[in-house]
Amino acid sequence: MTPEYHLYSQTQNAAVQQIRALIPEFLTNLSWISEEEGPLVIVEYGCADGANSQKPVRDIINKLYELKGKEIPIHIIHNDLPASNFSHLFVLVDNSQESYKHKTSDVFNPREEIYTFGSGTSFYRQVVAAGTVSLAFSSTAFHWQKERHFAFQSDSLVHHLAAPDENERWIKASLENLKTVLEMRNRELRVGGRLLLSHRAYSDDHPPAYVPMFRAINKIVFEEIVDRDKLLTREEARACNVTSAILNYSTILTLFPNDFFCMEGSKFGLKVLHKETACIPDPYYEHFQRGLLELDEYSRRLARSVRAWFEPCFRGSLPNHVDGNRINEYLFTRLQEEIAKDPWTEGRLFPGVSYLRKGPEA
Ligand SMILES: C[S@@+](CC[C@H](N)C(=O)[O-])C[C@H]1O[C@@H](n2cnc3c(N)ncnc32)[C@H](O)[C@@H]1O
Repeated sequence: MTPEYHLYSQTQNAAVQQIRALIPEFLTNLSWISEEEGPLVIVEYGCADGANSQKPVRDIINKLYELKGKEIPIHIIHNDLPASNFSHLFVLVDNSQESYKHKTSDVFNPREEIYTFGSGTSFYRQVVAAGTVSLAFSSTAFHWQKERHFAFQSDSLVHHLAAPDENERWIKASLENLKTVLEMRNRELRVGGRLLLSHRAYSDDHPPAYVPMFRAINKIVFEEIVDRDKLLTREEARACNVTSAILNYSTILTLFPNDFFCMEGSKFGLKVLHKETACIPDPYYEHFQRGLLELDEYSRRLARSVRAWFEPCFRGSLPNHVDGNRINEYLFTRLQEEIAKDPWTEGRLFPGVSYLRKGPEA
């Protein structure tokens, strides 16, 4: 994520709102809550710079206090990749009005028994000790891949626009990755522990809404940066494909036959307690449509928000001999122009929202 992530992550925030709506239900009938004296461990996976972490953690803590009738000691572990902007997260938690530690008075008055930690371990590995996590959540993060599966032979930076056989291979490899991520969470959760997950997906009935945007990016990269300006070779550009995978909802559900995610060698699998899809309109586009953003400002913000998550992945795979700053500046200035020329309409996301419980039925 770029340092500007917290300024341009309203789209991700829209998915977090879905998670928040499910929190009261997520925390009902916890078999262990009455005997638990803490510290109770909560983990957030893929926290970015913490911009969208504060409200869901606050909701979870408030509900736990309500259930226990008192403040209990809590450890919150925010996880992301090592290069993530953890300092922004810690500063937010430590002294901002938005912080889940804030007691809502004007003067910062921290809730003393909440302890915050950062974890810079990939969620493709076990992040905390086995059987120690009571509650976990993650929003729009597990679609990021462990590594680039392969370079495309077609002119595309995303799997959707790659040749059909490449798209199919990519999706298959991504499902294996998602399985690994869930296996790791299964190890970490205690029996009866729960995971609340908002996973980006696209609806079975609609093609992914962001395809027009990726068409625009592909066009700028392959027609202008590669063919016209020769700043990159075609092979170099193809090797920069984005390490994410957005699958459709029913493909993801194949992991949960009979609502159970069964793992080899583990005593208890993850059981899906609840699942739903939410169609989330892109907030930038919505504001533009409602006249709250002028075209210029809409295209600027949308291009910045795409840049906030796209650039680090793209830049990281550019060869050393090229000027990554120049290429990214050019790409996102041009993307903004393209959006302003033709503000694509169906700006919609389809995260599937689910929660899972580890262990046998209560
Ligand atoms: C789209 S952002 C979502 C961030 C945040 N949950 C939100 O709602 O704003 C995805 C996050 O996942 C993180 N991420 C990607 N791969 C990861 C991995 N293997 N381990 C941990 N975090 C990862 C990225 O660094 C990024 O911060």
